[in-house]
Amino acid sequence: MKDKVKNGPGLKEFIIGDSETVLTGRPHIPYLPENVEIGSKRKVYFDVYGCQMNLSDTEIVWSILKNEGFEKTEIEDEADIFLVMTCAIREGAESKIWHRLDHLRGFKRRRSLKNKQRPVKIGILGCMAERLKEKLIEKEKAVDVVAGPDSYRDLPRLLALTNGGQTAVNVLLSLDETYADVVPVRLNEDSVSAFISIMRGCDNMCTYCIVPFTRGRERSRPVSSIAEEVRQLADQGVREVTLLGQNVNSYRDVSQHSDKLDTQLAKGFKTVYKSKKGGLRFADLLEKVSSVDPEMRIRFTAAHPKDFPDEVLQIIKERPNICKALHLPAQSGSTEVLQRMRRGYSREAYLDLVRHITDSIPGVGLSTDMICGFCGETEEEFQETLSLMEIVDYNIAFLFPYSMREKTTAYRRYKDDVPEEVKKDRHNRMIEVYRRKCQILNEAEVGNTHLVLVEGVVKKTGQLLGRNELYLKVVFNQQEILSEDNGQRLIRPGDYVAVKIIGAKSSVFSGMPLYHTSISDFYRDRTWGDRRVVTL
Ligand code: 5AD
Ligand code: SF4
Repeated sequence: MKDKVKNGPGLKEFIIGDSETVLTGRPHIPYLPENVEIGSKRKVYFDVYGCQMNLSDTEIVWSILKNEGFEKTEIEDEADIFLVMTCAIREGAESKIWHRLDHLRGFKRRRSLKNKQRPVKIGILGCMAERLKEKLIEKEKAVDVVAGPDSYRDLPRLLALTNGGQTAVNVLLSLDETYADVVPVRLNEDSVSAFISIMRGCDNMCTYCIVPFTRGRERSRPVSSIAEEVRQLADQGVREVTLLGQNVNSYRDVSQHSDKLDTQLAKGFKTVYKSKKGGLRFADLLEKVSSVDPEMRIRFTAAHPKDFPDEVLQIIKERPNICKALHLPAQSGSTEVLQRMRRGYSREAYLDLVRHITDSIPGVGLSTDMICGFCGETEEEFQETLSLMEIVDYNIAFLFPYSMREKTTAYRRYKDDVPEEVKKDRHNRMIEVYRRKCQILNEAEVGNTHLVLVEGVVKKTGQLLGRNELYLKVVFNQQEILSEDNGQRLIRPGDYVAVKIIGAKSSVFSGMPLYHTSISDFYRDRTWGDRRVVTL
């Protein structure tokens, strides 16, 4: 008997999909019948880890569940279902989530002792789901549902299946799921800004990155559904949207025909995939989205340096409501390391691009992601990263020590040979350069006037908090200031205010509010080069 069990099918055989399986369309799943009774409607508690994309995905999940009659709670004791939106990008992100699972396992056990009628279910969603489905079920006996980034439509059914005590798993990746027809329900309805997911997945295959394995192939959502969502958000009073994706500037709506010729990649840039053809591109999307409401600020992230053709730069330059803040993740300043990372450009090509962008859009703000301690990184190679950070004026930088991920090309091809303490030391050195430079850049803004979108109040000090065009924080005191109709009124979240910068730290400005304004009024008589400098 023992032998029979040993040789019989393992857990693997009962799990839907694995990283190698990439299917098109809605799969037929034989043991998840279409007509499962959804069962009693219950309260869901969301835990969101990782990037903004995860926040946006949670809003999609919430929309799907709300539609089925589920409720949401922010109080643990009220919850019947815990859904944890996970991140797999670095070990640190994962270990935070394992800790949370320890807590939830204890919570579930205590509830089952206290109240048998109200069992707690735990669901794991997002990037860890695909990667760790077996470990999550076998080792974390407490997990009831595992759903990958492309299977959220199945969640009501998966949850219903758990009513019989079953564990339900769907981690299939799709070639075309974009949730285009799901209108996300915002988790924070009071927020003046919102996220819109415009594409999913990634085809770049940088050697360090797990995302292509957890989120699958790149696919874009149709322009029309994105523009419609911007319209709806504008009607709800949202003043700022951030277009989200792993590589937003390679956006391509292939459902639409375009007469424009495909542009070549800039000199010195290449991709691992065959160049994509036809359809509407990122510049077309920006054009459409920024036309919906000239008072809606448009941001976007994450981008790849390879996809910034002149059409994109031109539309950003032209439109007052598209923020002049570009994410240009370099990852490293060393051509050799960039080659091992398979980024598709050299240090020189990157620097040429930076020069071209700063020439094309005067006053543009740049941000970056940098990794230190990648496989084989020597001290000299690391110093090239520091020197790149000295040359390029980044307003924002996300700095990471390298963390080896299974399944990636780097895991198969290279050795994670930079000792932890060296990574830590290099990380600290990057932070030091970044902070020092930010302080200098920010101090140079003292005396200038910025257009600030007010977000809310700082709890500790009671001051107002807003963001300038480059997404930098500005704090200032509440007061009555000149309104658009030449009266005086207090400042509210969602207002655009002209704020004079009076103090600068490396990550926040302090300011003095001058007058209420709008994007069109503020930029009416100013050119981009002097848009931050206003003579009153
Ligand atoms: N280790 C450290 N940082 C990573 N990133 C992606 N994968 C890894 C990894 N394995 C960083 C990159 C990316 C950002 C989202 O996370 O800088 O741009
Ligand atoms: Fe984390 Fe990347 Fe997945 Fe976002 S896409 S959740 S950052 S692994």
